[in-house]
Amino acid sequence: MASISLALFYTLVLCFLLFSSFSEGKEFLVGGNTEAWKIPSSPSDSLNQWAQRSRFQIGDFIVWKYNAKDDSVLQVSRKDYSNCNISSPIAQFNDGDTKLKLDKAGPYYFISGAKGHCEQGQKMIVVVMSPRSSQKPIMSSSSISPAPSPVSEFEDGPAVAPTSGANALSSTLMMTVILGMVVLV
Ligand SMILES: *[C@@H]1O[C@H](CO)[C@@H](O)[C@H](O)[C@H]1NC(C)=O
Repeated sequence: MASISLALFYTLVLCFLLFSSFSEGKEFLVGGNTEAWKIPSSPSDSLNQWAQRSRFQIGDFIVWKYNAKDDSVLQVSRKDYSNCNISSPIAQFNDGDTKLKLDKAGPYYFISGAKGHCEQGQKMIVVVMSPRSSQKPIMSSSSISPAPSPVSEFEDGPAVAPTSGANALSSTLMMTVILGMVVLV
């Protein structure tokens, strides 16, 4: 009897820890690597190609790594993004390790604050999905698809599906239940 309560307690604690970590939001390293915030070598290498493959949701973070001596990140209006106008940014970051929380749905426009960089393609649009559009019916098939690697959003690979958190969560919960049963036997 004592082992049952112990297993239950253990399972509940693990569930709680899992849920609290998942509610914090994902971190997206811009371009998938620490060298990416720079003038792209070709249009096909642009940061918008990366941004379009990524699924950003409210509560996620974008992280830029760059040399604070020669570059910066400006959040600007759509018009200033198009014109590469660096004179009146909405927000300006130049600490070399910028972390921004995406706290609302819709487009965010970023350009480099270094002179001439935006004109050469160092700019990026991030679109944060509205809570409704992020709920895809794919959800129901989560039990048959393999759990993705938790590091996948940092790689320069295909977009992380919005269900990935749920996938990882359900398989981890499964593991927890199995572990709990092992304790019981
Ligand atoms: C840049 O933006 C500022 C402030 O909105 C404006 O006064 C200026 O004319 C703009 N420059 C260009 C080149 O569009």
